[in-house]
Amino acid sequence: MVDILVIVMAYLLGSLSFAVIVSKSMGMADPRSYGSGNPGATNVLRSGKKKAAVLTLLGDALKGLVAVLIAKYLWDAGSITTTTVAYVSVAVLVGHMWPIFFGFKGGKGVATAVGVLYALSWPVALICTMVWLIMAFGLKISSLAALVATVLSPVLSFYFMDETSWSVAVIAIAVLVLYRHKSNIQNLLSGKESKIGQKQP
Ligand code: G3P
Repeated sequence: MVDILVIVMAYLLGSLSFAVIVSKSMGMADPRSYGSGNPGATNVLRSGKKKAAVLTLLGDALKGLVAVLIAKYLWDAGSITTTTVAYVSVAVLVGHMWPIFFGFKGGKGVATAVGVLYALSWPVALICTMVWLIMAFGLKISSLAALVATVLSPVLSFYFMDETSWSVAVIAIAVLVLYRHKSNIQNLLSGKESKIGQKQP
C-alpha cells in the first residue's frame, strides 16, 4: 500500500510544471504559447527572462530529486521495495511530461531527469551534467546537449548503480526523454533547431 501511495505522490509532484507556475507568478506568458511551446527552462529562456528560466530549471530538477530521495529514505527504512524506488523515478518523469494539473501538456523531462539521477547515483548525474554543460556551451543547442547526455545515462547507470531495477528505470526515462524530443530531432536533422537564448515568437 505504501509503495503505491509513494508512486502516486511522485506522479503528482512531477505534475507541478514549474515553467507554467513560475511564468504565471512572474506575470509572464504561458511558455506553451511561444517558442517551441515546451514548458521547460530552455523555452522560458526564450522569453528573455533569465531569472524565470533558472527558477524553472531548479524547480523541475528539485521535484525529481526530492521524489527519489524520499523514496530512497523509505527504502532504507524498509517501508518500500527497491523496485518501488525505480517506479518512483519513472513516475515523477511521467508526471512532468503528462501533468494532471496542466491538461496533460507537460515538458520534455531533461531537468527532472537530472534531479532523479542525482538522487539515484550522483556520479552518473555529475558526468551527464558535465557532458550537457560542455556541449550546450560549445554548440549552444540545448536539445542536442540533452540528447547526448540522455543516451549516455543508461550506459553509465549500469556501470555505477548496484540496483539493476534502477538502471532499468534510467533506460525507461531515457526512452521517454528521447520520445519527447521528436520535434527537436527532426529540427536538428533539417538544420532548423534554434540556439540557446534565441528569442522566438
Ligand atoms: O530540455 C528541453 C530542451 O532539450 C529542448 O527544449 O524548448 O528547445 O524544445 P526546446
